[in-house]
Amino acid sequence: MSKKVLVTGAAGFIGFHTVKKLLSTTDYQIIGLDNINDYYPMTLKFERLKALGIHPDFIRYRQKTASRQHDRFEFIRMDLTDEKSLQDLFHSSNFDYVIHLAAQAGVRYSIDNPNAYIQSNVVGFNHILEACRTYPVEHLVYASSSSVYGLNEEQPFSIHHKVDQPASLYAATKKSNELMAHTYSHLFKIPTTGLRFFTVYGPWGRPDMAPMLFAKAIMNNDPINVYNNGKMARDFTYVDDIVDGVCKVVEAVAPVNEKGLPYRLFNIGNSKPVQLMDFIDVLGSELGREVKMNFMPMQDGDVVSTFADTSELKEAVGYQPKTSIQEGVKEFVSWYKEFYKG
Ligand SMILES: NC(=O)c1ccc[n+]([C@@H]2O[C@H](COP(=O)([O-])OP(=O)(O)OC[C@H]3O[C@@H](n4cnc5c(N)ncnc54)[C@H](O)[C@@H]3O)[C@@H](O)[C@H]2O)c1
Repeated sequence: MSKKVLVTGAAGFIGFHTVKKLLSTTDYQIIGLDNINDYYPMTLKFERLKALGIHPDFIRYRQKTASRQHDRFEFIRMDLTDEKSLQDLFHSSNFDYVIHLAAQAGVRYSIDNPNAYIQSNVVGFNHILEACRTYPVEHLVYASSSSVYGLNEEQPFSIHHKVDQPASLYAATKKSNELMAHTYSHLFKIPTTGLRFFTVYGPWGRPDMAPMLFAKAIMNNDPINVYNNGKMARDFTYVDDIVDGVCKVVEAVAPVNEKGLPYRLFNIGNSKPVQLMDFIDVLGSELGREVKMNFMPMQDGDVVSTFADTSELKEAVGYQPKTSIQEGVKEFVSWYKEFYKG
């Protein structure tokens, strides 16, 4: 029998790509869940769902909508803070795997909107854990973030490093998720794998992140804001490489570790940090436009550089990112121009 999978955050950037990949490479029955919040334009979320065969006109709260293109995909608009509805969904669905990608994302927004992070990332994640406890699943894979490394200086960032100095509430909620998952793996033997994503980019990307913000400004002939005077580096990771890793991890259920619990964490990144100025160069030349820049000081909550050590993920599932920054930016720009008719 084919596996039944819940993908939360299915209208989001990584969730959308995950569903797409699972539909094309597995025979899983997939339910996508998302509250379609307005943190960034909902139209983009609806367009992603449309690309998965879910027409916005047919979406109703807490009711499954069947895809018109994929007979193995249904979507449900639901908020993770609605515990009763989530429990009902788990009760009626018997999930084998849960891929939990829904969250209030974004570092900067967390400075002025802390409650959104507590609600979606802490309360919402606890509801996911409780649902997995009541209706046991084979594997819960959830999104953590490179931001948990916070003010750590030693690079590359390794999962063996201590992470107890977050620079934002967003990071603190992601670290909390890892701790909460540890408790549930320990007490209730729920197999959990946390994935610390490193700056994901690509087609259908997030409008609040640098590639989209920059592309929009450059196409409008506006200056882009370059923080820390450009002295930043990010381990930019192409979304297909991320999703490839996510799909491999799901099937490789977390084994019992040396402490006797089915709990583990991985970094998932490109392991090739790119200087922000180099990224801007590649983006500008792919867009074929001159780039105007406003050099700015470092922003609150931000970190200077990120660099993933992914050796454990490589060893566990053969993870090997393939996409160079040139190839990835080219794909992103081609999607961007088509989508926004630039
Ligand atoms: N994109 C990155 O570079 C990156 C880096 C590190 C970690 N992450 C993590 O990966 C995951 C996916 O990120 P993304 O870039 O696709 O973000 P995204 O914002 O595009 O997707 C998240 C989705 O979750 C939904 N959501 C938020 N709160 C919800 C709630 N209470 N109930 C139901 N749905 C809710 C949103 O509507 C959104 O569609 C997130 O957990 C994020 O924190 C992303």
